[in-house]
Amino acid sequence: MNWKTVAAAVAFAGIAIGSAMAADGTHEAREALMKKIGGAAGSLGAIAKGTKPYDAEAVKVALTTIAETAKVFPDQFKPGTETGDKAASPKIWENMDDFKARAAKLSADAETVLAQLPADAAGVGAALNTVGGNCGGCHQLYRVKE
Ligand code: HEC
Repeated sequence: MNWKTVAAAVAFAGIAIGSAMAADGTHEAREALMKKIGGAAGSLGAIAKGTKPYDAEAVKVALTTIAETAKVFPDQFKPGTETGDKAASPKIWENMDDFKARAAKLSADAETVLAQLPADAAGVGAALNTVGGNCGGCHQLYRVKE
């Protein structure tokens, strides 16, 4: 191993340890999951816009990240975790079925697109329209701007 490999391994382990330590249902844990979704959507956006070259593997990874993260996201909103998170609206707990359905729809849309993997930048743009159409509605209802 040269120093670069070691440094990369250490940095990676640091991220893994950090996320393992984030307690369920905290603002930090919720934010970390949404950041993963945001990062994945961002990399799809860069390909769609042409600021990054089309890369089938990167598209696959980003869509898989969105599909899997959206699945576990509602687990962060268990009963009794309503307090202390200024970014998460109390409406989430009042309308938990709708909130879960929105997360499930995001995950399902990402999986649908994944099954017919977009083959070029235009395809990624169309996919992002489908998948990204789920973001705003949920944020408007359930995310409080800090
Ligand atoms: C099921 C509802 C829901 C869906 C769907 C959803 N989000 Fe979110 N998002 C939230 C909530 C709730 C928060 C605030 C969580 C918190 O900070 O405690 C949030 C926060 C965020 C944040 C801010 C994280 C931070 O650093 O504070 C980003 C970025 C984000 N979402 C991106 C996205 C993107 C991109 C999509 C679509 C691909 C998406 N979200 C879809 C509910 C949703």
